[in-house]
Amino acid sequence: MASSLLWCLLVTCVLSVVRIYGEERMVLKVLNLRASNLNNGMFQTPDGYVKVFLGPRYGGKTEVRNDQHDPWWKEEFGFFNALENDLLKLEVYDSDFVIDDLLGSCERSIKNGTFQHECFLKKGGTLHYTYTLGPIQQNLEDFENLEALE
Ligand SMILES: *[C@@H]1O[C@H](CO)[C@@H](O)[C@H](O)[C@H]1NC(C)=O
Repeated sequence: MASSLLWCLLVTCVLSVVRIYGEERMVLKVLNLRASNLNNGMFQTPDGYVKVFLGPRYGGKTEVRNDQHDPWWKEEFGFFNALENDLLKLEVYDSDFVIDDLLGSCERSIKNGTFQHECFLKKGGTLHYTYTLGPIQQNLEDFENLEALE
């Protein structure tokens, strides 16, 4: 009697953990990265690229767009198991022979849904980007695309 009650409690507990975990499994997608009036404070036109982070997690970087003040990047970045209020960080660099120059960085705590943002870069110019935070189940197609990126 006592052991079946215990068993019952255990099953209930496991089920609710699975349910809570399942609800929180969300994917963050970062896309439509572009910059305008990118400036490195020097005479050369910037060779820009962007690094993407979610909290301590590094999501990768874009290709370098050589000699462009208004570059765009086609790459999309995905993070599994993202949570609301996680910190999304985008760092814009000017590629150089020796040390790449940080032109500015953008931080934002993410919310459910799809949002378009722009942020001003320390050395001049603006970064534009879009992100989507949502459950994995919502869009299986996105899920497949994200897997392809990894
Ligand atoms: C965001 O989505 C998650 C997963 O669907 C949900 O658990 C959470 O309550 C949502 N937050 C808001 C503010 O709607």
